[in-house]
Amino acid sequence: MYSIRRNWFLTLDLLLLSLLVTSMQADSSELEKIVLSGSNVTLQISESLPENATSVTWLYTIKQKIVEYEQSRPPKYFDSAFKDRVKLDLQNAALHIYQVRKGDNGTYYLRVIKDEIKQWKISLKVLDPVPTPTINIEKIEESDGNCYLKLSCVVEDPFVDYLWYKDSGPFPMELQRSTLEVTVTPHNQSKSYTCQVSNLLSSKNNTLYFTPPCTLVKESVFLASTSTPYSSTIKHWCLAMRPQLDWTNPTLLHINTTF
Ligand SMILES: *[C@@H]1O[C@H](CO)[C@@H](O)[C@H](O)[C@H]1NC(C)=O
Ligand SMILES: *[C@@H]1O[C@H](CO)[C@@H](O)[C@H](O)[C@H]1NC(C)=O
Ligand SMILES: *[C@@H]1O[C@H](CO)[C@@H](O)[C@H](O)[C@H]1NC(C)=O
Ligand SMILES: *[C@@H]1O[C@H](CO)[C@@H](O)[C@H](O)[C@H]1NC(C)=O
Ligand SMILES: *[C@@H]1O[C@H](CO)[C@@H](O)[C@H](O)[C@H]1NC(C)=O
Repeated sequence: MYSIRRNWFLTLDLLLLSLLVTSMQADSSELEKIVLSGSNVTLQISESLPENATSVTWLYTIKQKIVEYEQSRPPKYFDSAFKDRVKLDLQNAALHIYQVRKGDNGTYYLRVIKDEIKQWKISLKVLDPVPTPTINIEKIEESDGNCYLKLSCVVEDPFVDYLWYKDSGPFPMELQRSTLEVTVTPHNQSKSYTCQVSNLLSSKNNTLYFTPPCTLVKESVFLASTSTPYSSTIKHWCLAMRPQLDWTNPTLLHINTTF
């Protein structure tokens, strides 16, 4: 009998709580943050908190309490995926999350009780930094000085945008997808084809180099020779340029020729 009564009151209490919380939603703000996994983030509301709040609670979804502060007691960090990675700032109720993970993506609630219950909602989107893409040659065909090219840009992340470039700049919008399919004529040929993949916060690219119209550059490219006066040594500077080698990080070789 006792336990039934108790449950009844508990239910009523919860019902009341949810009614009160719901009624406060209208004047609470909703924010969104987007961060890269591995970074640190601070969840914070812009309004000032009521002074001397009875309790301040951060939740992940409405079910998982992360940390709770009740007046004059140290904050209680709950056993959760966040434990040891979060810190509550008692001045402004900001929640610092360190080493953000993909699983931290979701909706957070800050619930403050003082006479009434106020609740703010912040959604956190966690993105991975995009990986470096690989460019595969699906098809390459030369005829009459024209070149038909089908290149695919491969990256292990389905949520990226693709942008293809040639020497003179990006290809038109309608060609922007993972596979580039173009016919280049002597008028618009290019020495390089770059695929850039990006999400809202990061981007990476890779480039294939061609000798127009259609020959993939496979070997080292001779750049320059230097010699000092009266020296019998000539330095040949070469950039080892292989297909799919990141142009931003080429291998610089020099070969000395001594007479
Ligand atoms: C995250 O915060 C920790 C602790 O303050 C710091 O050591 C680390 O460098 C920060 N990481 C980044 C990516 O800012
Ligand atoms: C908050 O608490 C302090 C110290 O107990 C008190 O001086 C102050 O008046 C309180 N402020 C409000 C708004 O209740
Ligand atoms: C990340 O969280 C937002 C809500 O904050 C949700 O809309 C979105 O679907 C989530 N994304 C993933 C990949 O879970
Ligand atoms: C090159 O120009 C021809 C027309 O001269 C056009 O059909 C083709 O789409 C262009 N290719 C590229 C890669 O811009
Ligand atoms: C490729 O990435 C590098 C740095 O990672 C950047 O400097 C360069 O502008 C990018 N190239 C293109 C065509 O976006």
